[in-house]
Amino acid sequence: MSHQILKGKKGIIFGALDERSIAWKTALRAVEEGAEIVLTNAPIAMRMGKINELAQACNAPVIAADATSTADIENLVQKSMEHLGGKLDFVLHSIGMSPNVRKAIPYTETNYDNFLKTLDISALSLHKVLQTCMKMDALNEWASVIALSYIAAQRTFPGYNDMAEAKALLESIARSFGYHYGFSKKVRVNTISQSPTITTAGSGVSGFDAFYTYADKMSPLGNATGEQCADFCIAMFSDYTKMITMQNLFHDGGFSNTGVSQLIVEEMQKAAIATEGING
Ligand SMILES: NC(=O)c1ccc[n+]([C@@H]2O[C@H](COP(=O)([O-])OP(=O)(O)OC[C@H]3O[C@@H](n4cnc5c(N)ncnc54)[C@H](O)[C@@H]3O)[C@@H](O)[C@H]2O)c1
Repeated sequence: MSHQILKGKKGIIFGALDERSIAWKTALRAVEEGAEIVLTNAPIAMRMGKINELAQACNAPVIAADATSTADIENLVQKSMEHLGGKLDFVLHSIGMSPNVRKAIPYTETNYDNFLKTLDISALSLHKVLQTCMKMDALNEWASVIALSYIAAQRTFPGYNDMAEAKALLESIARSFGYHYGFSKKVRVNTISQSPTITTAGSGVSGFDAFYTYADKMSPLGNATGEQCADFCIAMFSDYTKMITMQNLFHDGGFSNTGVSQLIVEEMQKAAIATEGING
């Protein structure tokens, strides 16, 4: 399915680690829709070498950048403009990492150095990318910047740990920077709040399998897949969504507005009957 809705557009895609990554799928779709892209990831992630396969498929260079380093981001933006021959029309921020989650440190016993790293990598990095682009005047008018979020920014999911605060901060940065960049350059900034998706970052969250299944059963349309998220990113990069900015857009099959589904009620009833059977 290609309609060339990104024909002539140029952009940077952060965060493609392997085939399951939302950024990986978005990169392929962006090129299919006629865009020219530059791929980037943290130097440590690039050592896995997988991203080079994607680079070949997308005919795109890979420029390493740690998204917490403004020097790396400046270098990335400069080299991207040189390679693409002009300013950018879109940026995908698809970055998330929590050392507390990775080390299974419970939320109530958080390590604050780790907590600050979570916020720096997963949220402040969006501010750093936007600030660098603004300083370097790297974005064309009506450019579209998307970052990926999760509903734990609004509601508590215990296993999500300090990533919940990171997502709340990320969404707030999108709103605040979206205001400033909208007035100064007509640049739009939004977050997409995606269903649980089986990826390296997703599966790192404790109890992921259970809340993946739970969300699927709660959502009238089921969980949105990574491919569907990529399609939504493409729509948001296109000129068909020009007047959307400063929003957190739920891409979750209806999960965020569902109190409980009949499927979950029936499962609870079945579980209650099974427990009665055991007890009595
Ligand atoms: N998978 C899910 O269930 C889900 C749901 C909602 C939102 N999201 C969000 O989607 C985004 C992409 O995650 P994904 O699920 O595709 O997983 P992923 O693990 O494939 O992608 C996360 C990426 O972040 C990169 N990264 C980590 N530290 C970095 C740094 N310092 N500098 C630059 N890049 C760095 C990693 O190398 C990796 O490529 C994340 O923001 C994640 O929180 C994921």
